[in-house]
Amino acid sequence: MLFSVRDLHVSYGNIKAVHGVSFDVEEGEIVTLIGANGAGKSTILNTIAGLQHPTQGEIVYRGDNLARLSAHEIIKRGVVLVPEGRRIFGNLTVYENLRLAGFQLSRAELEQRIKRVYSYFPRLEERRHQLGDTLSGGEQQMLAVGRALVTGGDLMLLDEPSMGLAPILVQQIFEILAEINRQGKTILLVEQNAHMALKLAHRGYVLETGHIVLSGPSQELVESPEVQRAYLGG
Ligand SMILES: Nc1ncnc2c1ncn2[C@@H]1O[C@H](COP(=O)(O)OP(=O)(O)OP(=O)(O)O)[C@@H](O)[C@H]1O
Ligand SMILES: [Mg+2]
Repeated sequence: MLFSVRDLHVSYGNIKAVHGVSFDVEEGEIVTLIGANGAGKSTILNTIAGLQHPTQGEIVYRGDNLARLSAHEIIKRGVVLVPEGRRIFGNLTVYENLRLAGFQLSRAELEQRIKRVYSYFPRLEERRHQLGDTLSGGEQQMLAVGRALVTGGDLMLLDEPSMGLAPILVQQIFEILAEINRQGKTILLVEQNAHMALKLAHRGYVLETGHIVLSGPSQELVESPEVQRAYLGG
């Protein structure tokens, strides 16, 4: 198993947000955690990325427990977060944003990775000298994914890449995620957009108020009456 979360508990002060969540991600998979507002999706991803610390539980990646490591150390091991709300640098250009995401790389490696990002997202290359703040929402999301690709790593954590985007742009971004996965990247995706997430992912878990209530291959979840009713408007 590439990645495994075991009995994860996370609190904000005395408010518990995540109550004993466990799930796995195998090498090469796309796994999604779907859930409504406040279910705990971002809390789980931020905790994996080391931005928050669990009160209990293990986060095992390639056999090591990440739960006590710093965010920096976790990135170095190859677990890279694309945060909610596309946190890019608004006062830097597209190119500068990409370059900063790979500051640890050699010049040649950096330029090669930026080139690869431009091949996935030609729009970013066209806009490489434009400031982050002035990009459209969809372009900012592309840049956020692009930055994670420059940073590298084997496991990409994505926090609601569909948020605020028109369906056509969501479609485009999800197609690129599928391509990135075919090229070898393992993906853990959290989404409120259950329809798109289950279309993309191999397997999924349904999160409700900090608990996993259902899991299985995406096709099974799509067909499940509970998921249909609660998340797919069926
Ligand atoms: N900094 C914080 N302080 C206190 N409570 C918080 C904090 N951040 C999140 N929470 C609470 O933790 C719970 C889970 O929040 P989280 O952001 O993980 O949900 P989410 O599933 O990502 O929701 P959304 O789909 O709206 O992004 C919520 O009840 C939220 O109010
Ligand atoms: Mg969230």
